[in-house]
Amino acid sequence: MSLPSSLLIRHPRIVLPNGELMVGDVLISDRLIVEVAANISTTSPITEIDATGLTLLPGVIDPQVHFREPGLEHKEDLFTASCACAKGGVTSFLEMPNTRPLTTNQAALDDKLQRAQDKCLVNYGFFIGASGDNIAELLAANPTSGIKIFMGSMRGGLLIDNPEVLESIFSQGKRLIAVHAEDQARINQRREEFANIHDPAIHSQIQDNQAALLATKLALKLSQKYQRRLHILHMSTAEEAELLRQNKPSWVTAEVTPQHLFLNTSAYEKIGTLAQMNPPLRSPHDNQVLWQALLDGVIDFIATDHAPHTLEEKAQEYPKTPSGMPGVETSLPLMLTKAMEGRCTIPQVVNWMSTAPAKAYGIPNKGAIAPGYDADLVLVDLNSSRPVLRQELLTKCGWSPFEGWELTGWPVYTIVGGQLVYAQGKVNTEVRGRALEFGNNK
Ligand code: DOR
Repeated sequence: MSLPSSLLIRHPRIVLPNGELMVGDVLISDRLIVEVAANISTTSPITEIDATGLTLLPGVIDPQVHFREPGLEHKEDLFTASCACAKGGVTSFLEMPNTRPLTTNQAALDDKLQRAQDKCLVNYGFFIGASGDNIAELLAANPTSGIKIFMGSMRGGLLIDNPEVLESIFSQGKRLIAVHAEDQARINQRREEFANIHDPAIHSQIQDNQAALLATKLALKLSQKYQRRLHILHMSTAEEAELLRQNKPSWVTAEVTPQHLFLNTSAYEKIGTLAQMNPPLRSPHDNQVLWQALLDGVIDFIATDHAPHTLEEKAQEYPKTPSGMPGVETSLPLMLTKAMEGRCTIPQVVNWMSTAPAKAYGIPNKGAIAPGYDADLVLVDLNSSRPVLRQELLTKCGWSPFEGWELTGWPVYTIVGGQLVYAQGKVNTEVRGRALEFGNNK
């Protein structure tokens, strides 16, 4: 595979910014989309992709992933994770601070940015983690997608379960705060109540809907008090969705993961601890209410919370097992499969997986197929379906909670900054992404 500075994508079905679909051509030059038209003729020599029968979407922006580098590279690293992104049509990601060391200061952020520059095949941005005593770092860090607060479900330096500390963070500065909303006091109490139970299904009862609701209510209250930009990560319960439906300030956004939409507590019987994540899987009723909230715009977008752990780690006995599951390779085909089943439209998927996260995080020039936008694109095949197979996965952890699911809309080509990073089953490991900018997040 070469790295063309000019690329012409011929005859795909293009999802336009107004939601219309058009069969046409897209011309890319020097990392940017320069023309979108029914028929483009060029005289200069150019690399062409015949995309007849494929559908062209803006590349996915996955706004919540855990890529484990530095410090936990036995689970995943920025190279393996970004190969998985390329295969899954994910052209940009926002990564979380629970690495080792924790990303709680500028030096740790700079270290991640340098590592990503060296080895990351797609575009990257990083959160700065609140540790309770790093307010100056939280306010000064740059570039960052925002401040991550673990209100619960976390051990060690990133747990902020003291309401006064939480309020002091909300009260200082303006930049986006993204919360993992689970109430640690309730989780602690229920862990004692349900101690000595090793069935992983108990996880959803220990960290129950109420634990999520309590924390989301508190985050919303503080966000309203200080008019602070708030993003609610991986919203998992019907109760939280209904709360937001009643009263969602204009400066609040929320996301949902494919696993909270499409998996529920019945998954424990089938895949055991592989289904264990935080916040936990819920009931079919929660699946349905979350889906409706997404359709209605109460929930703004999709994130995978890609959180790889090795099969060996997952094979321990609950509650020794770590929580989390990978997702970047399956999120787009999962959502497109739902679109093909008629549960949503393809332009809605584009909005939830690219346009809306770009807007929410103020990422300039991404999330649309139009002249002047960055050429981060994915060509998917909506005419065939294939199962999720363990042996084909590129994530270092080597498993997926969706193994065996027959999906439509697998990426055939992925393009990052005008360069082909994935083509017909092969990853081009020479390609490098760039650091994302965050326009409205100072
Ligand atoms: O299940 C989870 N695992 N949820 C999180 O928020 C953290 C993640 C991890 O880092 O493993």
